[in-house]
Amino acid sequence: MGLAKKFFSNAAKPSGFLGKVMIAGMNIFHAKVAHWGMSRMNIPEPLEIAELGCGGGKNIRDLLMKYPHSHVTGVDYSPLSLEKARAYNKDMIASGRCEVVEGDVSALKFEDGKFDLATAFETIYFWPGLVKCFAEVRRVLKAGGYFVIVSESDGRDKPSLWFESVIDEMKTYTADDIESALASAGFSEIHTEHHPSHSWLVITAKK
Ligand SMILES: C[S@@+](CC[C@H](N)C(=O)[O-])C[C@H]1O[C@@H](n2cnc3c(N)ncnc32)[C@H](O)[C@@H]1O
Repeated sequence: MGLAKKFFSNAAKPSGFLGKVMIAGMNIFHAKVAHWGMSRMNIPEPLEIAELGCGGGKNIRDLLMKYPHSHVTGVDYSPLSLEKARAYNKDMIASGRCEVVEGDVSALKFEDGKFDLATAFETIYFWPGLVKCFAEVRRVLKAGGYFVIVSESDGRDKPSLWFESVIDEMKTYTADDIESALASAGFSEIHTEHHPSHSWLVITAKK
């Protein structure tokens, strides 16, 4: 396996030394798209938030800042991501505003109707089947709860298509693909916003 493939495959499930480097990079290189995505989130103030595929945990912290009365549960299936996200949010965990738990989005270990908001930044490319995972997200949302997806790929941009060719576990999606999977999973009020000059997307859906 070439070094590029070895390194970038860690985006799907970081592990080992290269995974540590990848996670440190995620908090830095995803900051702009995440910041834009969060600025476009116009939903009623959520109290219980699930940050799915939380990686290095920066978005957990930024959600806690955006919604000062919220509690955020970060979820990831990579032990390395969990370790980094916990260290990054150590003070918030100590103050009881946040927890970071191991979990796979295709089979979440939460009861039905727990969350007001679920977020997924730069992660759905790696999920094992969109409709199945979206249905699982919908299950853990309260009635009227929101699911917000933020991706820097619109399924057509050259960089992401290159990543897709290198990372076996990665699949890019167009806004139509994502909207249709959300509808099949039972979501309504599905709305996509495209960034005016990048391939970035924010997709909001309601349970
Ligand atoms: C490219 S990183 C993005 C991390 C973070 N959301 C960000 O924007 O920087 C993708 C993350 O999603 C996690 N992930 C991928 N598939 C997952 C699944 N099925 N269940 C839980 N986590 C998953 C990976 O372990 C990794 O930490």
